Amino acid sequence: MNPLNHVAIIMDGNGRWGLKYKNSRNAGHQEGLKTVEKIIQETIHQKIKYLTLYAFSTENWKRPRKEIKYLFNLLENFLITKIDKLNDQNIKLKIIGIKNFSTKLNKLLNLAEKKTFKNTKLQINLALNYGSKSEIINALKKLKKDKKQINEKNLSKNLQTRDIPDPEILIRTGNTKRLSNFLLWQAAYSEIFFEKKLWPSFERRDFKKIIRKYKSIKRNFGSI
Ligand code: FPP
Repeated sequence: MNPLNHVAIIMDGNGRWGLKYKNSRNAGHQEGLKTVEKIIQETIHQKIKYLTLYAFSTENWKRPRKEIKYLFNLLENFLITKIDKLNDQNIKLKIIGIKNFSTKLNKLLNLAEKKTFKNTKLQINLALNYGSKSEIINALKKLKKDKKQINEKNLSKNLQTRDIPDPEILIRTGNTKRLSNFLLWQAAYSEIFFEKKLWPSFERRDFKKIIRKYKSIKRNFGSI
């Protein structure tokens, strides 16, 4: 059976769900947060060590200010109300992306990372203001500055996902088949699952089905 250490998810479809069922995109983000909590619990149940969630891309700044504000408020509330619970569950939170948000949100993110730093059950990488191309360029710049050789190992070591295994599974919900600048380097050999359901409708059983499917795949990494 294939080992499974890391699942990465593009949580797409909140806006469409919100418009369809509540006449508001933001209601979709709120419902999407409930799915985040359910998927975290299933990840723990499956004994998966790393979960990377794409919560805000560098391209998402193009959205209306009101929606961006709503998303960051949601995140602030989540951090304020849930960080102790995550900590009690031995979960480590790490932000990947550039933390250039409001002073309040930056502080909350730093505090959450610090508080959960030593936890070992599950590491959640929250991709916020994250873009894979700039992550790779920054890694290359660092190698050049440090006069290090450019090779796969050194490049991986200078990405924000350093020290963690590449995702074996990458899921995108919302019936769209693209990677949207997410983990382009790390997902080189990931099994990719495009899921028709919108993120707020994605259930624990859908996640379990993907995991079962992944475990049955013959992975040969280019050999036969
Ligand atoms: C993509 O759906 C989703 C986002 C840009 C935000 C993801 C945020 C959450 C799941 C909730 C907040 C999460 C945390 C961890 C606090 P979309 O808006 O692009 O959907 P659409 O394609 O239907 O427009």
